Amino acid sequence: MARVLLTGGAGFVGSHTAEALLAAGHEVAGIDNLRTGCVENLSSFAGHPGWRFFRQDILDAENFNRVVREVAPDVVLHFAGLVSVPESIANPGLNSEMNVRAVHVMIDAAVMAGVRRVIFASSAAVYGDSTAVPLDEHSPTRPVSPYGEAKLAGEALVLGRGRTLGFEPVCLRYFNIYGPRQHRDSPYSGVVSRFLDRLRAGQPLVIFGDGRQTRDFIHVRDVARANVVAACDPGPLAGIFNICSGSEVAVNDLAAALQRQFLSRLDPIFEPGRSGDVKRSAGNPTRAREILGFSARIALAAGLSEFEGNSVAP
Ligand SMILES: NC(=O)c1ccc[n+]([C@@H]2O[C@H](COP(=O)([O-])OP(=O)(O)OC[C@H]3O[C@@H](n4cnc5c(N)ncnc54)[C@H](O)[C@@H]3O)[C@@H](O)[C@H]2O)c1
Repeated sequence: MARVLLTGGAGFVGSHTAEALLAAGHEVAGIDNLRTGCVENLSSFAGHPGWRFFRQDILDAENFNRVVREVAPDVVLHFAGLVSVPESIANPGLNSEMNVRAVHVMIDAAVMAGVRRVIFASSAAVYGDSTAVPLDEHSPTRPVSPYGEAKLAGEALVLGRGRTLGFEPVCLRYFNIYGPRQHRDSPYSGVVSRFLDRLRAGQPLVIFGDGRQTRDFIHVRDVARANVVAACDPGPLAGIFNICSGSEVAVNDLAAALQRQFLSRLDPIFEPGRSGDVKRSAGNPTRAREILGFSARIALAAGLSEFEGNSVAP
């Protein structure tokens, strides 16, 4: 049994990961300031004896250090951050604070508490406009947004300080995650949740650009399983891993699949492409499979079918 601390534990990925760790018999603590997360995300396991929650901003270093010392985790999974590319462009200072300074604070606290492994939630955004699709962990990193730059800086901090300070540094580059509990009603949400929001409201989908841009979608329960595997690997474990499905799906095809499911015949509205959006994104999952023994299991069609469809008659 491991003791695991999740920063951003009340968020989309954090709450699913907490649930999966608890189901596997681990002791789990979550810390979250509820900026984008919420306590409703914790409802399915809030009373579990292995779970503790701290409402706390990790940028408040003194109080965060106190929580980390109290929990004394073997592993820290660092999910807390600013998660949206458009928001990072609108507010680059906040992005640096939440996605770079927070990593410094988290590492300092982890080192002081003698944590064995730090797992950093990185992103496919570090590859940016790299054309080497499918992207593997050696593909060039060419971020095209403050968010992607900050994630790359976060990786460098975790890997570098892990080497020099003696914890095991692991960076998981998640591709496009979708599934229940993802924020729906924000312009900063991911494409699946934005599409669902429009379909449920009986509105036409809005597609940025020509819709031929591609993404590699991975279900949040697969991501949670990857996080459990990375947290519990007997190790020593270090380095960068793509967490992806390996399938390249055009946004137009995603739109068509969801429209069929929701029986919507409204033509999508095409709006100009957004700055910071990459043209092609699909990952190579080989390294995660060979070293972690992790492969995504939930195919996109099966994952989308979990969302309530057939509810809108246009
Ligand atoms: N969702 C995706 O598709 C995706 C893809 C790649 C990478 N990631 C990364 O995975 C991680 C989790 O993403 P998510 O989709 O669950 O987002 P999320 O917004 O649901 O989760 C982030 C959580 O961190 C909390 N938080 C933010 N700053 C904090 C602070 N200073 N102190 C305490 N809590 C704080 C928020 O309240 C939220 O609950 C992020 O680091 C994100 O960059 C997500």
